[in-house]
Amino acid sequence: MTAGYTVGRDEEKITMKAIVVTDQAAGMAGMKLADRPQPQAAINDVVVQIHASGFVPTELTWPSTWTDRLDRDRTPSIPGHELAGVVTALGYGTTGLSVGQRVFGLADWYRDGTLAEYVAMEARNLAPLPGDVDFTVGASLPISGLTVWQALFQHGRLQAGQSVLVHGAAGAVGSMATQLAREFGAHVIGSGRAADRKTVLDFGANEFVDLGSDALKDVGKVDLVLDGIGGEIGKRSAGLVRAGGTLVSIVGPVEARPEGGLAVDFVVESDRAQLNEIVQRVRDGRLRTNIGTVSTLDDAVAAFNPTERRSGKTIIRVRP
Ligand SMILES: NC(=O)c1ccc[n+]([C@@H]2O[C@H](COP(=O)([O-])OP(=O)(O)OC[C@H]3O[C@@H](n4cnc5c(N)ncnc54)[C@H](OP(=O)(O)O)[C@@H]3O)[C@@H](O)[C@H]2O)c1
Repeated sequence: MTAGYTVGRDEEKITMKAIVVTDQAAGMAGMKLADRPQPQAAINDVVVQIHASGFVPTELTWPSTWTDRLDRDRTPSIPGHELAGVVTALGYGTTGLSVGQRVFGLADWYRDGTLAEYVAMEARNLAPLPGDVDFTVGASLPISGLTVWQALFQHGRLQAGQSVLVHGAAGAVGSMATQLAREFGAHVIGSGRAADRKTVLDFGANEFVDLGSDALKDVGKVDLVLDGIGGEIGKRSAGLVRAGGTLVSIVGPVEARPEGGLAVDFVVESDRAQLNEIVQRVRDGRLRTNIGTVSTLDDAVAAFNPTERRSGKTIIRVRP
């Protein structure tokens, strides 16, 4: 996978391979492999040669994938916003990282993303990736890890001894939430499909709720709900939050608020200190990531459009 040269009328552009989207209505099926100009580092940016990249499918429904901050069309845009790779260039004024350094992190939603050979992004959105953590693992951490950290500890103010209901606990976010909440001394009830019972308990949940057959109200009162599913399940969960507790949604604004409790919805933000906390836990074995499929950039479109149910996160290994 080497970068090619495209000679334009007035300029020579170095190109790279990337997945692009141009048609919002087409959803995941509209992803295409294409040649795009290699990005340049702006002020405080780095350019990262991407070794592995992650992607959250709902990105394709977010305005930031399609328009810039002034609401102007920015297609063709490159989706994928988490990555692990190596810094290849520094922008004007960039400090804190150096060329050749292994890094991982979360790229800006409004800029071209990480399903590509290179990305330009602000250095502050990256953290060093220790040499003993594989790029594939590194790319699986930023979105799920930061989302969980922020949901549990910033927005949910989780304390040791409290109870937390994690919806979608077999998923990328849910499996990390289960492990981190247990590590911090919480009682974890994980929910999901019947087939996910073993996975959820293996990630450390104290109890499992089968959303297909168990009555959610039988869970009783909890201090925190982390909702990664939404809809009816989110609505019914509001009634489970005890007074003073919190319903944290990562799937958009809550439709029902807990009585006597708080409701928060948020979008994950990058945070270098939190990335360091997360990767340290992966190194010492306290945290396992939930990678299901590893594919190449050439096969990424097929990997993101599977014909059968796949569990775990799909990671694109951009460089072998
Ligand atoms: N706000 C933010 O900043 C933020 C950050 C990260 C993720 N998110 C969002 O959070 C959600 C979860 O993300 P993720 O990466 O963890 O996704 P994921 O890996 O697909 O996990 C979701 C889990 O929930 C299960 N699930 C979904 N609907 C269900 C239902 N009706 N009944 C039972 N189980 C159900 C899924 O099972 P199946 O695979 O069988 O459907 C899967 O195990 C996504 O919507 C994502 O876009 C938001």
